[in-house]
Amino acid sequence: MKNNIIVTGGAGFIGSNFILDILGASNSNTPDLIINLDCLTYAGNLENLESLKDNSRYAFVKGSITDKNLVAKLFKEYQPCTLIHFAAESHVDRSIRDSGNFIETNIIGTYTLLESARQYFNTLNEEDKAQFRFLHVSTDEVYGSLSKNEAPFNEKNKYEPNSPYSASKASSDHLVRAWYHTYQLPTLITNCSNNYGPYQFPEKLIPLCIFNALANKPIPIYGDGKQIRDWLYVKDHCKAIQSVLIKGEVGETYNIGGLNEKTNIEVVNQICQLLDQLKPRADGKSYVKQIQFIQDRPGHDKRYAIDASKLQSKIGWKPEESFESGIDKTIHWYLDHQEWASHISNGEYQHWIEKHYS
Ligand code: NAD
Ligand code: DAU
Repeated sequence: MKNNIIVTGGAGFIGSNFILDILGASNSNTPDLIINLDCLTYAGNLENLESLKDNSRYAFVKGSITDKNLVAKLFKEYQPCTLIHFAAESHVDRSIRDSGNFIETNIIGTYTLLESARQYFNTLNEEDKAQFRFLHVSTDEVYGSLSKNEAPFNEKNKYEPNSPYSASKASSDHLVRAWYHTYQLPTLITNCSNNYGPYQFPEKLIPLCIFNALANKPIPIYGDGKQIRDWLYVKDHCKAIQSVLIKGEVGETYNIGGLNEKTNIEVVNQICQLLDQLKPRADGKSYVKQIQFIQDRPGHDKRYAIDASKLQSKIGWKPEESFESGIDKTIHWYLDHQEWASHISNGEYQHWIEKHYS
C-alpha cells in the first residue's frame, strides 16, 4: 500500500479547497499522490486546480464514481491508504426539481465506492488494513430541521432528512455505516454545516448574493429570510477532515460546525454592507436595495445548528475563523477573482438561473 489518497469530487467547491490545502501544506502527513476522481458535472471546475497542473503529486482522472470498473482499476493501480469521498450532487433546489442524479451519484455512487473499497481492503495485509481509511463527507441536513429553541444536532440525533438531497445523503451515510459494521471496512463519517469561501459555485446563497450584487441583479431571499444556517469557512472544514483522518476512531461519526448561527437575511445584509465599503455601487446607494423576497423553497428547513463538542474534545479541532473574518476573506477572494467568476457563468448555469428564478 502506498501513501496515496483517492479524492472523489475534487473539482468541486470543498474538494478543490481540500486538495489545494493538503498539497500546499508542509507536514509529514502530506501524501505522495492525490488522485482526483471527478466526472466534471456543471459543479466541477478544473480551473480551481490550475495551480497544480505541473505538480507531480497530483493526478486527475475524469470519470464517475458510479463506474465500478474504473473505481476498481484505480484501487488496483494506485493502492491508496485513504479514500476521501466528496463527490455528490449537492444543491437542494436542484434535487427538488429533478432528483434522479442525486439518487444515482449520492446513493449508487457511494455504494460503488464502498464495494470497490471492500474488495481492495480484503487484499491488504494486516498492517495495511490497520492503516486504510474510507472517509465519507456528509451533511448536517440528514438530521432534518430544528425549531428555534432546540439543542444543536449532535451525533446521536435521529436522521430526519426532508429534501431529496438530504434523503440521498442520509442513505449514503447508512450504507457507509453498514459497510463498517458488516464488513469491518474502516470508515469515518463527517456531518458538516453550511460551508462558504473560495471556489463555491454561485448557485449557493453566499456566492449567489455576491455575484448578483456586483452584476446589479436582484438578490433573491426565499420566504421571510429568517431560516437559520450554521456557517463554516471552508478551510476550517478541510482542517477538520484532516484531523478526523489522523485521530478519528474507525466506525465513528463526527459533526463539524461553525458556531455561527445566522438568519439568511443577516448573512445577506452583512455581505451587502461589506460590498458597500469595498466596491460601492455607482449610484452610491447600498446593495441592500437589490434584495428581493421571493417564493419560499418547498419543505424549507427552518434551522440547522451543530454541536461540535465531540470533535473538539476527542480530536482537538475547533474553527479558526469567525463569520466576520471568514466572510471578509471570502468577499475579497471573489473581488480578486472576477475572471474565475465570469468563466463559471456559462450557458448551463444561465439556464438554471432562468428556470429557477423566473
Ligand atoms: P460541489 O457540488 O461543489 O462539488 C461536487 C463535485 O462532485 C463536483 O466537482 C462534481 O463534478 C463531482 N461529481 C458529481 N457527481 C459525480 C460523479 N457521479 N462522479 C464523480 N464526480 C462527481 O459540492 P461541495 O459543496 O464541494 O460538497 C462536497 C461534499 O460535501 C458533498 O458530498 C456534500 O454533500 C458535502 N457537504 C457540502 C456542504 C456545503 O455547504 N457545500 C456542507 C456539508 C457537506
Ligand atoms: O447544511 C449543509 C448543506 O448546506 C450542504 O449539505 C449542501 O450541499 C449545501 O448546498 C447547503 O445547503 P443549503 O440549502 O442550506 O444551502 P443554500 O446555499 O442553497 O441555501 C442557504 C440558505 O439560503 C437556505 O435557507 C436557502 C436560502 N436561499 C438559497 C438560495 C440559493 C435563499 O434564500 N435564496 C437563494 O436564492
